[in-house]
Amino acid sequence: MKDISHFSNVPGPIGIFDSGYGGLTIYREIQELLPQYNYLYLGDNARTPYGTRSFDVVYEFTRQCVKYLFSQGCHLVILACNTASAKALRSIQQVDLPAISPQNRVLGIIRPTVETIGDVTRSRHVGVLATEGTIKSNSYPLEIHKLFPDIVVTGEACPMWVPLVETCEHKSPGADYFIKRHVDNLLARDSQIDTIILGCTHYPMLIEKIKQYVPQGVRVLTQGAAVAASLKDYLARHPEMDALCAKDGRRVFCTTESDSRFCEQASRFLEQSIDVMHVTLD
Ligand code: DGL
Repeated sequence: MKDISHFSNVPGPIGIFDSGYGGLTIYREIQELLPQYNYLYLGDNARTPYGTRSFDVVYEFTRQCVKYLFSQGCHLVILACNTASAKALRSIQQVDLPAISPQNRVLGIIRPTVETIGDVTRSRHVGVLATEGTIKSNSYPLEIHKLFPDIVVTGEACPMWVPLVETCEHKSPGADYFIKRHVDNLLARDSQIDTIILGCTHYPMLIEKIKQYVPQGVRVLTQGAAVAASLKDYLARHPEMDALCAKDGRRVFCTTESDSRFCEQASRFLEQSIDVMHVTLD
């Protein structure tokens, strides 16, 4: 990541990044809990999905997106994408930020999600549905075992689920086949699972169908509320960062794909109309 600018003390929006529409499920909860802040959402729809890509590619794409958000005045960026949190967060925090922007911060969403499960599971058997990249990274078992070494974690990659959402086919009858298949696979591998984490920010858009195939008594957890609560706590503990977050309630949405398409789909997901800008990354 090249140095993008000298440090500015001008408050900016909180950046929220995802490979596409999925991060909107996180944004929705964040802006409901913290409506006073300004937000700049970036969806890299032109290059979605990230979930099937290599570590190096996800890292490079994520760096470009973070760099763009910094260039737009963000001091704090949330990677509202598990795949990017799993594959790029650590390198960005440890390698890139100290070199180019030591005052800025980039936060992921796996840790805040994991923190909530200790009180939820009784059987101590947890399932994770996520992209291939997130499952292969082993990030969920690693993070869960740091906090709850006794919990048994089983992961299932669902490579078709993000494309179903990105193509707006997530409510179509065809979606049921792929949803049932992965829920069944997960539960067949561990029948004691009583809690399933939706470890991909796109998946809450499939939740009605997912719940149809999950037996009663098994809880399905989404991430938005936990991430929003964790951000609120972070800002309270870091007044210096809070001061760098603008608070005029402005929201701006950007996409690397067509702005009209993003506008149409995102307005549907958010159930409100929004303005969208097309951006090009370098
Ligand atoms: N929404 C991203 C996540 O949480 C998924 C992405 C993708 O495959 O592009 O992992």
